[in-house]
Amino acid sequence: MRRKVTIVGAGNVGATAAHWIAAKELANVVLIDVVEGVPQGKALDLLQAMPVEKRDSNVVGTNDYADTANSDVVIITAGIPRKPGMSRDDLLMTNYKIMSDVVAKVIAYSPDSILIVVSNPLDAMAQAAFKHSKFNRERVIGMAGVLDSARFRTFIAEELKVSVENVTAFVLGGHGDTMVPLPRYSTVAGIPITELMDAATVERLVQRTRDGGAEIVKHLKTGSAYYAPSASAVEMVEAILKDKKKILPCAAYLEGEYGIHGLYVGVPCKLGVRGLEQIIEIKLTDEEAAALQKSADAVKELCAVIGV
Ligand code: LAC
Repeated sequence: MRRKVTIVGAGNVGATAAHWIAAKELANVVLIDVVEGVPQGKALDLLQAMPVEKRDSNVVGTNDYADTANSDVVIITAGIPRKPGMSRDDLLMTNYKIMSDVVAKVIAYSPDSILIVVSNPLDAMAQAAFKHSKFNRERVIGMAGVLDSARFRTFIAEELKVSVENVTAFVLGGHGDTMVPLPRYSTVAGIPITELMDAATVERLVQRTRDGGAEIVKHLKTGSAYYAPSASAVEMVEAILKDKKKILPCAAYLEGEYGIHGLYVGVPCKLGVRGLEQIIEIKLTDEEAAALQKSADAVKELCAVIGV
């Protein structure tokens, strides 16, 4: 039986996630939004691409949560995106209200689903979804590390003029200005990038990764990135639906791992059919551990503001 994925929010991230899922024939897709007509129109348009793409994914657009019933995975993209000059944190109050409302409706119809949170500020929104859903931590995962790592990988491949396929990278911490790219664990064909570039070059790519979202907001002016964010969320969906046991950096609820308690922060996670199946604890240098703690503190501050 084909699996069912609901995407909440038919904006650019949601609609593009629907596109990737349908194009990969991963699941049937329900695209839901509060705006009337937009999810219906985008879903119908995407459905009509399926004969051309030779895919049998079904795609439905709706404003009614009843249509989302019994989803295996729900990607939550709902919320407002940032405008130039705004940080992800500036979205906190508005998106928290939206998240609270969405989670209540999602879990009423899909009590056994796995939630993938994409809305910003990411880690605080994941924490809000976790607290509101009362799901266990295995079933509420935030998307950010895959995106931040993909940006780092892009810049590394471009710098060294090598295939992106050769490049792996790890970015931990919160999805914000305090994120922690880890050059020691970022490699080209297994070779740490610290062996292939001088320290100044590594630092330049690290900083560009930290500013990766803002760089795109600055270009677009009216919104934020969506191709890479949606592709990243869909990589997580694929790992779950295909039970791949894939290790990806994701925002997960830490219960003492990395010395952090009761907080969503980006760490290496194993994703499979049960959702978050394992948190991998890697050895960090004192400097890296301090950067991760600083990032966690920034997430904690946001969570305190919304009381989650
Ligand atoms: C970004 C936003 C979507 O990083 O958080 O592009």
